[in-house]
Parts: sequence; C-alpha cells; structure tokens
Amino acid sequence: MEFKRVVVLTGAGISAESGIRTFRDQNGLWEDHPVEDVATPEGFQRNPNLVYQFYNMRRAQLLDASVVPNAAHQILAEFEAEHIARGGHFTLITQNVDNLHQRAGNQRIIAMHGQLQSALCSVSGLSIPWTNDLTAEHHCQCCETPSSLRPDIVWFGEVPYQLDDCFEVVSKADLFVSIGTSGKVYPAAGFMQVAQESGAETVELNLEKTSSAFDQGYYGPATEVVVDFFSRLMQR
Ligand code: OAD
Repeated sequence: MEFKRVVVLTGAGISAESGIRTFRDQNGLWEDHPVEDVATPEGFQRNPNLVYQFYNMRRAQLLDASVVPNAAHQILAEFEAEHIARGGHFTLITQNVDNLHQRAGNQRIIAMHGQLQSALCSVSGLSIPWTNDLTAEHHCQCCETPSSLRPDIVWFGEVPYQLDDCFEVVSKADLFVSIGTSGKVYPAAGFMQVAQESGAETVELNLEKTSSAFDQGYYGPATEVVVDFFSRLMQR
C-alpha cells in the first residue's frame, strides 16, 4: 500500500544515541529527579530555583558539540522532504524538548511538550527563544510590567501545545509510526489508538516492545530500526 498521510510520534528513545538521557529507562532522568519536583507547576512554585537549574542543565547540553542529530533524526528529515516532493503529507509530533529534529531539517514539527531552547512568559504565554541559563531574575519584554519567565516545557497537569492539530493529523493518517516512546504519558500515548481506529497502519520502532496493539513492530536501537524502516519505505 502506498501511504499518503504519514504521522510520526517520537519520544526520548530517538535521541538516546545522541547522548540525551531518556526518562524511564535504567539511568533515566526520573531516577535522579522526582517528576513532581521538576515537571509540575506545583514543584516550580515550591522550589523555582531547582526547576530552573534542572532545565538549565538540559538546555546547556544542547550546546555541547558532541550532541548532534543521529541517523534516525536524519532519515526522518530525508523522508519528509522526499514524501512531500511526491505529493504526500507528513507531520512529526515530538514529545522531545531537545532541538534535534529541527537541526536534522524536519519542517512540519509539532513540539507538543515545549522546547528547552525557549522561555515562556508566565503572564502573556508568549514563547521566547532562549539558549542561555534562565533564572528568576529574568523578565519578559512583552508585558507592560515585565513578568517572570519559566522554562517553556509542558508540565504534568498542563495542556500540550497544538493538541487539536495533533488529533487532527493523527485521525487522518494512513500510516502512524511511534518511535522511542514508552507510551506512558497521555495524551500522546493515546494517539496510536486514535490512528488505528481511524484506519491507519500503526508501527512501533523502539528498543523494546511497549504494546502488542501495534500492527507492526521492529525492535532495536533507533539508529538501526528507524533507518531500516524509512529506507524501505522510500524504496517503494
Ligand atoms: P521514556 O523515557 O518514557 O521512554 C523512552 C523509550 O525509548 C523507552 O520505551 C525505551 O525502551 C526507548 N529507547 C531507549 N533507548 C532507545 C534507543 N536507542 N532506540 C530506540 N528506543 C530507545 O520517554 P518518553 O516516552 O519520551 O514529558 O516520555 C514521555 C514524556 O514523559 C516525556 O516527553 C517527558 C516525560 O515525563 C515531560 O517532561 C512533559
């Protein structure tokens, strides 16, 4: 079957081989940093400095010369360009807050959980490009009275960015590919079912099987399974 509307959902596993820690694997970020401390609005209220520090450390890592898009990020960018050139539709929904898909060259990206290289004005809700450390001393320039800035990350209990767009593309997809995500965090974890119920072929590419509900699954490191899968798709 020739797929016309392709939606890819990515999670931390796609960036693991670029040196970025995942959340729930052994040695994952949530082992050292309790979620409720660094990824909830309540945690930020309790101890803003700890939260600023956590995201500063992760933002700084993106400037490290050794952190670059890997072969899995690159093949997705190649696939998008080729698929669009052939008249297809493509959307990359990422839960990742790193900038590796953007750097690899994907164009149609929904960064549903926000971005490390962005600060959020707590009053206007404006996202502001930000590559350096962010602290409680930084204020926005968008409000009449400069307001405080926070990491532009969607925390637990908050609504992801462009959620309506996500559901729209997922429900119209004829191929839905989930890459490097444990499928533990909703609403992203529910996209597969929406796609399947709307008639899409669903595929999981991951280090290990997370669910037996996918129509197809290929397991191994992203730089191998993602490259294999999309190379084959492009050869069709
Ligand atoms: P997780 O850490 O929950 O899951 C990572 C998945 O990637 C696991 O299923 C691993 O088996 C797989 N994996 C690890 N290394 C891999 C590799 N080299 N190649 C392929 N797969 C690999 O990360 P997410 O599912 O992305 O949200 O987590 C979802 C959300 O939970 C995150 O966006 C974050 C977190 O709390 C926020 O912080 C808002």
